[in-house]
Order: sequence, then structure tokens, then C-alpha cells
Amino acid sequence: MDLFAAPQRVDELRRLIEHHNRLYYQDDRPEITDAEYDALFRELLALEEQSPELVISDSPTQRVGGVALQKFSQVMHRLPMLSLENAMVEEDIVDFDQRIKRFLGLVADPVIEYVCEPKMDGLAVELVYENGVLTGGSTRGDGVTGEDVSANLRTVRGIPLKLNATDPPELLEVRGEVFLPLEPFRRLNAEREEAGEQPFANPRNAAAGSIRQLDPRIAAKRPLAFFCYAPGEVSGHGFLSQSQFLKAVQHWGVPVNPLARKVHGVAEVVAYYREMMRDRETLPYEIDGVVVKVDSFAMQAELGEKSRSPRWAIAWKFPPRQAETVVEAIIPSVGRTGVITPVAQLRPVEVSGVMVSRATLHNWEELGKKDIRVGDTVVVERAGDVIPAVVRVVIEKRTGAEQSLAVPESCPECGSRVVKIPDEVAVRCLGLSCPAQIRESIIHFASRRAMDIEGLGDRYIEQLLSLGLLHSVADIYRLTREDFDRFERMGDKLAANLLAAIDRSRRCDLGRFIFALGIRHVGEHTASLLAQAFGSIDHLAAASEEELLAIREIGPQVARSITGFFSEPANREVLAALSAAGVTPAAREKKVGGRFTGLTFVFTGSLSRFTRDEAKRMVEGEGGHAAGSVSKKTSYVVAGEEAGSKLDKARELGVRVLTEEEFLTMVEGEEQ
Ligand code: IVH
Repeated sequence: MDLFAAPQRVDELRRLIEHHNRLYYQDDRPEITDAEYDALFRELLALEEQSPELVISDSPTQRVGGVALQKFSQVMHRLPMLSLENAMVEEDIVDFDQRIKRFLGLVADPVIEYVCEPKMDGLAVELVYENGVLTGGSTRGDGVTGEDVSANLRTVRGIPLKLNATDPPELLEVRGEVFLPLEPFRRLNAEREEAGEQPFANPRNAAAGSIRQLDPRIAAKRPLAFFCYAPGEVSGHGFLSQSQFLKAVQHWGVPVNPLARKVHGVAEVVAYYREMMRDRETLPYEIDGVVVKVDSFAMQAELGEKSRSPRWAIAWKFPPRQAETVVEAIIPSVGRTGVITPVAQLRPVEVSGVMVSRATLHNWEELGKKDIRVGDTVVVERAGDVIPAVVRVVIEKRTGAEQSLAVPESCPECGSRVVKIPDEVAVRCLGLSCPAQIRESIIHFASRRAMDIEGLGDRYIEQLLSLGLLHSVADIYRLTREDFDRFERMGDKLAANLLAAIDRSRRCDLGRFIFALGIRHVGEHTASLLAQAFGSIDHLAAASEEELLAIREIGPQVARSITGFFSEPANREVLAALSAAGVTPAAREKKVGGRFTGLTFVFTGSLSRFTRDEAKRMVEGEGGHAAGSVSKKTSYVVAGEEAGSKLDKARELGVRVLTEEEFLTMVEGEEQ
């Protein structure tokens, strides 16, 4: 490129990238595909490399993480970062409201205006904007001094590096929570277990662990998110209330939780708490309560603070999702990559509405550390993980009859030698033909998020294996009607449905296919990146480590695992057999200019005509976007049976509500 034109193009690219970041992270309605985004990003990187003098600290390229630090430096907060007093029961909130009125000398029992917000379960940080540019960021630390984690915070894509304001305040400090949403949390933990690393106990630890990494490239790889909830020091601008503050910063591009709401009086606070308590199960991130704040900043100033917490705010915590039960057995279970994990079989117990009968013990080291024995009474917790975890043993309840379990020396399924890899907490079965590994990899291949072969679940796969009809995933495509005749209780209809589902999966999406292969360290997200970058399985199979490393978010470990997978002759054979069986995955392009371009759909309630995944695919297939929560920007809410708060929210905001049938009619294109 012409060197004189470079500065202009660099500017333009930065603006474009930040614009698309906002659409993606804040508005939840991207307009371009990940591949298109990557192209812009790579172009900017190339121009900056060519002309290093053009690199500035608020360039989006600085988000990928620079060099590792030796240690963090300390930062004094201009205003101390306070903590919150806790409320456990409704009475505590009534007291809080009374106390405020008493303190303010309000005798006529007026209705106080509060802002209620979800209490995010992450890590408190402060961001400093000087004349609209992000100049630093720190952790809360002890409230007075925190650590300078600027480099890591810059990698959080939702945090604007520059405010979207024409006349920004001279100084704007905002405080908020950095958190890891549940989906990437689960993925990260699965990858860690897979790699023989200790998984994080909950999303909060994962977020804190990421922000406190000295090497910012680690934080850059974790899809952390941020919600702002309070001002720090501000000069050059005045805010009158919390609600006004939230609105203003949101307008400038700082993410604010859309569930924050102004309410009037205690009764509405209680209603808000109940609503959040009900919705917490379906939110894409963990919350551990609600925070109630006096809206007016004048009242806040008058109320002031006592020791370490303000008088004008309180955290109303949710009851912990924990319960006590007994470990009936500890079963070593072999995963598809041979990792042997101890799983506790529990006496079934209800944990906030969900029956729990199994809990992962993660690995043998952890089992030993927590000293969990068969017969022990334990505390189990649902903390963001799909499978609950055992928190601790209730030692007082030990009788002496409990039995510990030794680390297995051989695979419980195939008897092969088991190894403990140095530096890994995992124990692995080395049996190449371990039936458990084969079974698990076939189950994974057929599963909903992979090839989505409806009906081909664990039970049939196990039967097919024991009949000797399956040896690898490719054998799925050789199954015939006669094979299913050997099954007990399998009618014509069921067999026909299964065969049709298998056939449908031949024309699958490339990203799903790559994920289905079960390559170590390649989860759903990485698989879809690979699909977009390479466009076909043959191109991916031929890729070198260097080519793989050129993709944003792909590091050396993942690159090595991919080339290793494709150089394995046995894997090449399976791929050839799949191709010969007519499995032809195709890269799915997000349709730009489809019928739903620019429209956002939210699905709620129990759907009977299609699954949530199918709905998402239908929407995306037409260029639309499927979101998890209802906001002003939602175009349509599709409500199934027993739709709850999302439907209420849609009505409140005047968002159009569709039945499943109406949605299907729209997909078919008869109406819009
Ligand atoms: S306000 C003085 N709002 O809870 C007010 N805090 O114990 C400062 N937190 O350290 C806090 N969500 O990490 C506030 N919506 C929210 C919050 C929130 C989570 C955390 C924050 C703080 C702790 C207070």
C-alpha cells in the first residue's frame, strides 16, 4: 500500500473494528462474519507492522496481548473501592430501606427509588478514561491499592479502548465486573481437563485467574466480558443518579448489564430479586445475588459510608446452590481421549430445584487432596459447571467405615497400562483400541453439538458396538435396515428415522464435522474458526503448523495437536472412509442479505416444533441473529409453552411475540 495512504486506512480500520466490536459485544447483533472481522484485523496488523510509528496504545491490535510482565505494579485508587454489606433474607432489605429513611430524616415514609442490578460473580476492576481514551485499569486489591492489569484488560473485547463520545469527560473512572460467561467457562474447563490441567472451580476463579496472568496473551485467548456498575472519580461531567450514569456510559460504549433496572420502594426490590432468582438458571453467566443501590447521587452523598461499605447499597445474596448427600461409589470413567476421571455416584439430592446424582471429582489429585471416600457425607455444589462438584467432606459425619479409592493402575475398561504424564494432573489409558475411548468418541461424533444424528445416543451406540457393527465413526454410514433388525424393540419407524438422521448428517456443516472428529484441544469454537479459515477438510488436513498459527486464537499447543491428528495414518483412514461413505461437510457462510438480516430473535419457553439449535440455525441461515436475552433491540420473541420472564420482558418492551407456527411461516417466507 501507498505509504501516504496508510495512516488514513489504519484510522479507518480501527474505527471499523471498534464499531464491529460494539455490535458484537455490546449490542449482541454482529453485522459481519468472524472471517470478515479477521480480515479487517489482519489488514490492520499488517499495516502496523509495516509502519510501526502508526501503532498507538488504543489500537485494537493492542488487545491481542503484548509481552509478559515480571510482576504487576501497584496502583492507588483515586477513590477507595468499597465492598458491600450483605443481606440474606427479605427482612434485611426492609431494615435497609428503613435505615436509609431514618438516616435521611425522612418521616413521611416516602418511596425511595433504587437501582437493582444482578450481582455479577467475577472480579471487580477499575478502568480509567482520560479524555475518552482508556489509559489504565486495575484490580480492586484491598480497596485502596490494586494491581495494574491494564494489558490484560485491554484484551477484553467488550471494553472500549476509546469512548464513543464527541465530548468525553476529562477523567472518567468506571468500576465494574470482569467475568467469564458460562459457555466459554465450560469449554475452558473441558480443555483444561483434557490437557491434564486443573479445572477452575467456578467462573469467578477463571476470570480472576485470567486477569491476574502476567502474560496478556493468555487473557486475550479467554472470551472475558465486562459490565460497568459504578463510577469512580469523574471530572468534567456531572451525573445525578446511578440510572443516569449507567445510561450515559452505555451510550459511550461501555457495556452495562441490560437487566439493571430502576425500581420504586421495597416491594419492587423484592419482585426484582425473585425474578433474578428464577432467571439465574437461564442466564449465560453466573450471578450470586442482586445489588440494590439508592438511585439519587445526592442521597448517596448524604448517606455516606461506614467503615468499608456504603450505607446506600446492599448485596442481597442468593442462597448457595449446595446440598449434603452421601457418596455411594466412586467410579473411574474413561473419556474419549483416554483420560480417566473419578466420578462420584451420589445418593440423589435436590440442589435448588435440580436432582443431582453424579458429581465430577475432576482428577485423582483433587480426590486425594479433598480426601473423599466412599460412604462419606459431602457437600455438593452447582457452580456454573454442568456437572456438579463435590466441595468438601463433612468430616464430623465420618463413622470410620468409609473407604478410599486408589488411583487405578490399569484401565477399568480395557485393562491397558495407565500413565500419569509429568506436569499433568490427568491419568490416561494408553490402550489404542480401548473400547471406552472408541465408545466415547463415537458418542461425541453423533452428539447434538457435533454431527447431530438425532436418536443415535449412548444406548444404541453401545448396542451397535457390542454387536460388532461399529469399529470407528465411519461405520455409522455403513449401517443398514438389516443391522437394526438385530435390535430388540426397534420398530420400522424408529429404524427409518435413525437411517434418515444418519443420511442427513452426510451434508453437515464443516465446523461441526471438525468438532465431531474429537481432535484434542479443538472445541466447538476453535472448530468453527478452522472451518472459516480453511473452507474444506482437505485444506485443513494439509495445513502446516505455521499456517495454523496465523489464525487468531490458535496457539502452538492447538496447532501441534491438529497437525498431529492429521498425520496419524489411522485418522487419515477414517477420514477417507467417511468421504467414501458420502460425508461431505461444507463450510457454512453466514448469509448476508438473507431474509432475517439485521433481525434478532429470542426463543423462550419449551419449544415443540423444533429444538433451540435448529431454531438458531434457521435464523442464522437467513442472515439473522439468535440472542439469549430480550432487550429493546430484540426484533421478535418466539414463545413456546410455559414461557416465563423473557415473554414478560418482551411485552413490557413492546417486542413482537410469535408462536412457533408463526415463526415457521416466516422462515418459509410467506410473511414478515
Ligand atoms: S457495587 C460501593 N454492583 O460485589 C459499591 N458490586 O461486595 C461497589 N459486584 O467488589 C460495588 N456485581 O466485585 C456492585 N452490580 C454490582 C456488582 C458488584 C458484582 C461485586 C463487586 C464488589 C462486590 C461487593
